[in-house]
Amino acid sequence: MTKTTDSVAPPIDALAFLRGFVSLRRLASMYPSGHPVIAQKLDELYQLAQEHLKDNAVLTLDVIRGEVHLDGMAFRDEATATATAQTVRELASLGIDSVHIAQGVERDEIRVAAEFLDRIKDNPSGTTLALRLAERGITHISFGRIVSLDTRWRARQWPDAPTSPLDPLYAQSLEAAERAFETVASGGTLDAVTVRDLVQLLIGEVVRSNAALGQILALKEYENLTYCHSVNVAILSLLIARQVGLDEQTTYTLVEAALLHDIGKTRVPLEIVKKPGALNRVERKMIEAHTIFGAEILMETPGLHPIAPIVALEHHRNPHGGGYPDLGEGARPHIMSQIVSVADVYEAATGARTYREPLRPEQACLVLARLAGTKLNTALVKAFVAAVTFFPLGSLVRTSRDETGVVVRTNSKNPLHPVLSLLSDDLQQVLGEVDTSVRDGSGAYEHQIVATISSRERNLDLTRVLPSHGLARSA
Ligand SMILES: [Fe+2]
Ligand SMILES: [Fe+2]
Repeated sequence: MTKTTDSVAPPIDALAFLRGFVSLRRLASMYPSGHPVIAQKLDELYQLAQEHLKDNAVLTLDVIRGEVHLDGMAFRDEATATATAQTVRELASLGIDSVHIAQGVERDEIRVAAEFLDRIKDNPSGTTLALRLAERGITHISFGRIVSLDTRWRARQWPDAPTSPLDPLYAQSLEAAERAFETVASGGTLDAVTVRDLVQLLIGEVVRSNAALGQILALKEYENLTYCHSVNVAILSLLIARQVGLDEQTTYTLVEAALLHDIGKTRVPLEIVKKPGALNRVERKMIEAHTIFGAEILMETPGLHPIAPIVALEHHRNPHGGGYPDLGEGARPHIMSQIVSVADVYEAATGARTYREPLRPEQACLVLARLAGTKLNTALVKAFVAAVTFFPLGSLVRTSRDETGVVVRTNSKNPLHPVLSLLSDDLQQVLGEVDTSVRDGSGAYEHQIVATISSRERNLDLTRVLPSHGLARSA
């Protein structure tokens, strides 16, 4: 077995442990629990676990893109590759991508946990996995589930750049940004004149092109590298600036700051920036440090507006405190940092990463809506959503009351909460209208849109739901 990164203590055979654990599940379905075959396998597993838990609080096995990681380090062994691949497939079919075992685990707990794997999918009452394990007396072993947005183990490799032709001026701005970011990554200094030309290109040309805007707002099926993400965040911040009516000079400053908000990532090793799956504590700290690195780089660059380092420092801070880096309670981020945060979340959600499929625009807007009020400034989320017109008329959606409806009117003052035409489950009958902006006595929305549904797949005839005589833009 070879591990792909260095470590001090000799690791246990993580692959053998995982294969053994999954095979125990099969043995348990064939033999009674006291059978020697089971006892022997259980002894092996218990010994391996104890060996690791002597020096570690937890034995953490994760499967990330088909590769087994022990405590965040990947392991490979060509000799047993086929057997390991079979184990990984078996776990995936059960919806599991990690097994964590804590100090104090009992020998028999391992057996009960392996037997439980057979019943893991059978959960009609919808009880949480943690509770189901606790009910069986399993308190030192937990399983990680593959959640629907997390397709790490079978993640696609995305191309590093768009494969279809881009708007020429947008393509030109991406090239300029890539050059500028590469200069900084290779130890060179950022040139304020290059930055100024790029900001002018974005404000003067790119934002006027509907094709460029379409390409920036759309789901992006290529690896969303920092330079590309930065150009997109700059344009999206510009859309918010226009929507809230910032003057030209302030808008210019905002676009410059947005373009450079993630420049600190040039000082974080690319393998950490692009790492698929969960980061360990050290890696997370390094990623979080991009805010401080960015502020340092921008403070050392003459000719930039002094707000640029502040936005780089604050764009992962929450409007009411919290987030990173820790700047002390009561430190409210500058309004420009808050604008960049909204653009940043949308852009990151619609961009593909090694470890994650990109979201469609309306799904990304739902992410913004969920984060509004806690991690993002609600007024700015509304401004963004109003600027890009979500939800489009005709979108098929599901509400918090499990109703299915079609967006028939947009509330101009509340674009996240449009008016719906409710439909029967088979989408054949219109049941009436509901205004999702209406709140109950406690101030909560009575009907919240919680998901969008692909109407093409469902064969919905929109002409029955939407009026044929022109569509009212606002209610
Ligand atoms: Fe960032
Ligand atoms: Fe960012």
